[in-house]
This record gives sequence, C-alpha cells and structure tokens, in this order.
Amino acid sequence: MRSAYVTLDLSAVSHNLARVRAVAPGARIMAVVKANAYGHGLCRIAACLPDVDGFAVARLDEGLALREAGIRQRIVVLQGFADPVELQRLAAQHLEPVVHAPYQVDLLERALLREPIGVWVKLDTGMHRLGLLPEEFGACWRRLVSCPAVRKPIPVMTHLANADAPRDSLTELQLERLEAAVGDRSERSAANSAGVLAFARARRGWIRPGIVLYGVSPFPHRHGCDEGLRPVMTFRSRLIAIKWLAAGDRVGYGGDWICPRPTRLGVAAVGYGDGYPRHARPGTPVLVRGQRVPLIGRVSMDLITLDLTDCPKAEVLDEVVLWGEGLPVEEVARSSATIPYELLCGITQRVEVVET
Ligand SMILES: Cc1ncc(COP(=O)(O)O)c(C=O)c1O
Repeated sequence: MRSAYVTLDLSAVSHNLARVRAVAPGARIMAVVKANAYGHGLCRIAACLPDVDGFAVARLDEGLALREAGIRQRIVVLQGFADPVELQRLAAQHLEPVVHAPYQVDLLERALLREPIGVWVKLDTGMHRLGLLPEEFGACWRRLVSCPAVRKPIPVMTHLANADAPRDSLTELQLERLEAAVGDRSERSAANSAGVLAFARARRGWIRPGIVLYGVSPFPHRHGCDEGLRPVMTFRSRLIAIKWLAAGDRVGYGGDWICPRPTRLGVAAVGYGDGYPRHARPGTPVLVRGQRVPLIGRVSMDLITLDLTDCPKAEVLDEVVLWGEGLPVEEVARSSATIPYELLCGITQRVEVVET
C-alpha cells in the first residue's frame, strides 16, 4: 500500500501548453524544465512537449540529461558556463549557454571549439541577478559578434523581476531597456509565465513559460484554473489512524494544538520528509473524500494530523489529497508562507510517482 505519492496528469501538460500558445500565438516557446521540471520529472515532462521550440534548464547536468534522453530541440542552459571544460561539454552536446558576465566572453574568445556554439546573451534590465549591465552590454556584444567560436545570430534575453505584479512599472521599464539594447537586430526573449499572461509586449520572439506548464498561476492571489490551466501534479497520501480525543488534549510535537472540543483526529502518512511544508499553519486544508478538513498540530517528518470531526464518513485508509486536483497548490502555499514553486520542487525522492 502506498503512503505518500504523487500522481501526474500528463495530459494536463499539453492542455497548459495549448493555453500558452493561445495567449501568445506568434511566439516561439522555450519550456522551462529546470529543477527536475519543477519536481515533475525532467525527461518525463520534456517528452510530453515534442512541439516546443526549445527547453530551458538551469545547469549543464540538466541539459546533458535531456540530450541523453534523446531530446533534440534547442536546450538553453541559463547559468551558462564557468570554465573551459564546461564550455567544451556544452558544445559537444549542442547545448546553448547563457552568457551573463564578461568573464564568459573572455572564455569564449580563448576557446578552441570544433564548430561555433550557439549562445544567448543575458541583459540585466533591472532584476540585478544574472546578466550584463547595460553599460557592459555594447562592448560584450561587439566582442561576441566578432568571436569565431560563437554562432550568429546571437539571441538576447532578459528576466523579468516582478511581472506577477502587473501594476509595477518595473516590467515596462525592463522591456524598454531590452528593446533599446536589441532594436530589431536579433532574436529576443523576455517573458516568464507572468510576462506571457500579463504583458502583450513581452510576447515577442521567444517566451519562457515555466510554472504555467505545470498548471499553476504565477500571480499571488489567483489559481491555475483562473488562467484556464489544469494541475499536473496531485500529492496524495492516506489516513493510517483515526481516534477520538477529549477537549483539552494536546496533539503532536510540543503539544501546540489543544483540542477545543471532542475531536476526531486523523493521522495521514505524509510529512516534511516527503515535501509537505513543515510551516503549514493549522487550518491548512486537506481533502478527505473530496471534503476540506483542517490540518492541526505540527507537521512532522512522516505524519500530519487532521481534524476529522466534521467529516464523519472518513475512514482509516481513505486517501487524502494534499494539493492538486480539487485543492490548488497555490492555496496550500499561501497557508504555509511560501510559493507554489517551492512546494512543487520540494517533493522528495521517497515519494512514489504515478503517471495517469
Ligand atoms: C531565466 C528564467 N526564465 C524563465 C523562468 C520561468 O519562470 P516561471 O516559472 O515563473 O514561468 C525562470 C524561472 O525561474 C527563469 O529563471
């Protein structure tokens, strides 16, 4: 019998991609599958996306894993390379690194490659994380254009810092800075999921949707279904014990939860050792027989405790849904003072994955 497991509705991936295409019909799509495809399985998700134009991963190893799995589309490695060995390994597998700092231009100028490598240049338009500053961009661009190791044309990308807050003027400013640097001369890419959904101007060239492909809204107070998306991952477990406690009884480590009434307590076989958030607040909803019941007490490594008093039909071995179908991960994230990205990425290795 399974305890904690996830089911993956892979048909939802194609549905969500179709939704992205409908919003940005002319754009080329680079599906973001870093961090094990946000916890859904890197190669599994890439294989569900045969029609996208490319993939984005964070690191070299992720790109190599995709090539090894037979993925033939363009693969962009967002963190680029740090030394000549990494550059050679990227080139050997036709992976396309992002050049985000001047030292990488130096490495390219010194590189001896069998054929020119495709690279993306990242401009820091205001995120102030990776990317060439506008004052560095012109000189680096000219060096790259005349560098024999680099394939032409060279696409330019930037990353939006706050597109999930569409009223923040920073996004328009970032897009203006990108336009100013790129003009009409090159392929470009700006939009993450929030950029795709909220900023028509960000849909030019290549778009880089991540979280929406997994069925989750990038916006703080919305759910995937509000954007016409379907969740791919459903996180499930089972009730393995039920008992009655008296008013005043204390539950779990620290005894923090004190039963305010006679309480029918349910114990589900899932905890932070599986990726359920330890900081989920009491009251965080869990689905039992399709009904929402509140989490009570502290989340422990392998177990959580639920108040089943108002769910009298619940029985031992009933399935519980922690998030996914019928219970948006966005809601659980809010109730745990985190973001859905962290919850999806945080599913641990011992959790069995079942494709549906
Ligand atoms: C450079 C870059 N582009 C695109 C994305 C995709 O973002 P989202 O999952 O919000 O669509 C990410 C994710 O963090 C990223 O780092």
